[in-house]
Amino acid sequence: MLSRPMARMAGRQPGLPTPVMNDAPAIPSYRLCVAPMLDRTDRHCRALFRRLSPHALLYSEMITTAALLHGDAERHLAFDASEHPVALQLGGSDPDDLARCALLAERRGYDEVNLNCGCPSDRVQAGRFGACLMKEPQLVADCVAAMSDAVQIPVTVKCRIGVDDQDDYGALAALVARVAGAGCTRFAVHARKAWLRGLNPRQNREIPPLRHEIVQRLKGDFPQLKIIINGGLQTLDDIRAQFAQGVDGVMLGRAAYTNPALLAAADRQLFGGTAATWETLHGELRAGLLAGLARGTPLHRMTRHLLGLHQGRPGARAFRRHLSEHAPRAGAGIQVWDEAISRLQTPPPTSSPSGSKGDDRAHSHFFQ
Ligand SMILES: Cc1cc2nc3c(=O)[nH]c(=O)nc-3n(C[C@H](O)[C@H](O)[C@H](O)COP(=O)(O)O)c2cc1C
Repeated sequence: MLSRPMARMAGRQPGLPTPVMNDAPAIPSYRLCVAPMLDRTDRHCRALFRRLSPHALLYSEMITTAALLHGDAERHLAFDASEHPVALQLGGSDPDDLARCALLAERRGYDEVNLNCGCPSDRVQAGRFGACLMKEPQLVADCVAAMSDAVQIPVTVKCRIGVDDQDDYGALAALVARVAGAGCTRFAVHARKAWLRGLNPRQNREIPPLRHEIVQRLKGDFPQLKIIINGGLQTLDDIRAQFAQGVDGVMLGRAAYTNPALLAAADRQLFGGTAATWETLHGELRAGLLAGLARGTPLHRMTRHLLGLHQGRPGARAFRRHLSEHAPRAGAGIQVWDEAISRLQTPPPTSSPSGSKGDDRAHSHFFQ
């Protein structure tokens, strides 16, 4: 009988699409991931993004162990069955607390639990977790071991390439080796170091230079691990270039959020399928909004995640303005969405995005 970490290594992925028993091997969902983003990748966002991307692995916002163990766990963990495959990201550094929270996530039906070792905010540092955990490889290993013992679902780690002055490749490789030994077989690596003093979280996503080559080297040195690259990927060409370097998956953060059409195009590119038309995407999103409204979700809590949908298209500003003004109003219903769509000038919602003239890269790149 395989130990739990070994069972994970053997490729069992609870909750992920059942492998099809034919000649074509199933493509793992981690090939395309939507990054955890506080105040963004909430359940409403994920349910809509699932409509755009049937296959991507969607990460929750980071939830702290304290919030889960002492707060309203049911509210923090709630998600819709349509969101699968979905991963819960945890912030914490106490192995027992993390193990308890991992178990809560598994019982609630999450497909994966992820430990945040990349967030540089002051609040997180005060709690001794997030990016500062990169300075404590043994503690990360202890956390992962405790979580792995508690659950069957994969336990993964999201980290940076370094932190403060600890930014040599050797330190990153040592961390990964130690944490892999504790049972983690998949790492999502933001290809930037974090400065814990002097830069705020936003600056820490922009100022430290991107070093994709470090993450690619990690994959070369740890071929048995699954390495997901994150940071600054904005186009299908960027994504293709990373796969050409051998990584196992890409994780999109801001680009997926500000331009959800990229997510739809990346899904078709990486998992196969015909290019989506605007008509298809609008239909999917409308169905998602209707489902949310039926659950009692206010329209604005959903449409706020779609303001970037038509970025760069004629009428995009009117689309955004209509949603921003009307969706927050009491009783706002699906007609607000329909009116916003009608503000788009060209192409009309029924035409194919790839066939329209005057496109910016949102069209020419993302639908092919
Ligand atoms: C608004 C916002 C919130 C974020 N919240 C989290 C978080 O909760 N957990 C986490 O690991 N990373 C968080 N991140 C970082 C992203 O997951 C990602 O690593 C980073 O944005 C770099 O990827 P990108 O260049 O594709 O955006 C956040 C990023 C943004 C923009």
